[in-house]
Amino acid sequence: MSNRVLNVGIVGGGGGAFIVNPHQKAIFFDGTRRVTCGALHPDPAVAMKEAEAWAYPIKGYKNYDEMLDEEMKKPAGERIDYVLIVTPNFVHFDPAKKALSKGIPVFCEKPLTITLQESDELVKIVNEKKIPFCTAHTYLGHWTSRLSRFIVTSGLIGKVRWVDSYYIQGWLAGRTEDQGVMQAEWRVDPKRAGGSCCGGDIGTHALMQLRYVTGLNIVKLQAFLETFVAGRQLDDHFTVYGELSNGGKALVRASQIAIGHKNDLGIEVNGDIGTLIWKQEDAEKIVIHLPGKPDLVYWRGAVSAHDGFFKDIPVSLLSEPTIPSGHPEGFHDAFARLHRCFEADVRAYQAGTYAGTDGSKYATVEDGRMGIAFIEKALESNKNNHACVEL
Ligand SMILES: NC(=O)c1ccc[n+]([C@@H]2O[C@H](COP(=O)([O-])OP(=O)(O)OC[C@H]3O[C@@H](n4cnc5c(N)ncnc54)[C@H](O)[C@@H]3O)[C@@H](O)[C@H]2O)c1
Repeated sequence: MSNRVLNVGIVGGGGGAFIVNPHQKAIFFDGTRRVTCGALHPDPAVAMKEAEAWAYPIKGYKNYDEMLDEEMKKPAGERIDYVLIVTPNFVHFDPAKKALSKGIPVFCEKPLTITLQESDELVKIVNEKKIPFCTAHTYLGHWTSRLSRFIVTSGLIGKVRWVDSYYIQGWLAGRTEDQGVMQAEWRVDPKRAGGSCCGGDIGTHALMQLRYVTGLNIVKLQAFLETFVAGRQLDDHFTVYGELSNGGKALVRASQIAIGHKNDLGIEVNGDIGTLIWKQEDAEKIVIHLPGKPDLVYWRGAVSAHDGFFKDIPVSLLSEPTIPSGHPEGFHDAFARLHRCFEADVRAYQAGTYAGTDGSKYATVEDGRMGIAFIEKALESNKNNHACVEL
């Protein structure tokens, strides 16, 4: 396999944008990927200026149509190898669809789209073209998320009875959208965010964490979408009570009005043998409770098979690059792990050996679609007096 450095083109990310920054650091993390160009802003003049002002030389394009067209005129090896989409939710579908139809792999921010129809369309194209696609559910990239998934799906805490998966923030507790914060302005606008603010923005992360760690789906749900801050059209507090595909029950909850909470995402899984607890603000460790035994605390990297709890630990997990435990990893490392795994799939795709992804390394286009289906069903339940609906 070639060790050529892969070229990434960015859609969005100019002028004080947020999530582009961790992504671009994660792209450079291993020295095997780099950002080479971008269509960084909806205004073509600003887009060009923003590209010139980028911290290192990249080629600016006036818009993403121009970027995709011009890049595809270059020979393979010189053009972009994948596209990163870091625009507000309503500008995910169009650039993703256009890139995929040109055969360019896509790494797209969540929530995947603003309608289920759009998500269905992306799934169809990805499946037809057998092309790599990642939905950027960051927290799957923590090594401890991967270990949590192994612990739960291999039955080490028994049959899953109850899951509490949550993402709690406080940054929209007041009218942040009136204070010149662009990240807040579009998130509370149904045209740009979609049908749900809190649920779409962070409830989808909580859902994905549940699905990833347990391997289960929500099959029925009752939803409560609340708006605490006056004048908002969309929810700023989101609670779903659900039934799991194994018959267990779950709470998927999110809030943006819980003052004091920052990025308080976590999951507790109660099985009939034990309980697993993981929190992204303390992501270096997993706590396991087993009845009648001292609590177990597993630190990232400091695990070994045959210790009385683990019988084995997959080589694929142990061989994922990490730094020695005690030197903390974090958000950037999680993003880097997703880009690293995506890079491997892009290289396989280019070599003609890509056979699809099983969702164990990063969230797929189907996972992104599931997030949108979940939000649409939550909206339906909420509208119908919180009726129980099937997903
Ligand atoms: N995975 C995560 O942990 C995570 C965290 C935060 C945000 N997000 C997601 O990332 C996306 C961006 O969020 P953000 O907080 O960075 O937003 P932001 O407002 O900070 O940045 C959005 C950027 O997109 C640009 N843009 C808008 N329309 C465009 C167009 N037509 N062409 C080119 N650029 C355009 C804006 O100018 C801006 O630079 C959202 O979908 C959000 O849900 C994900």
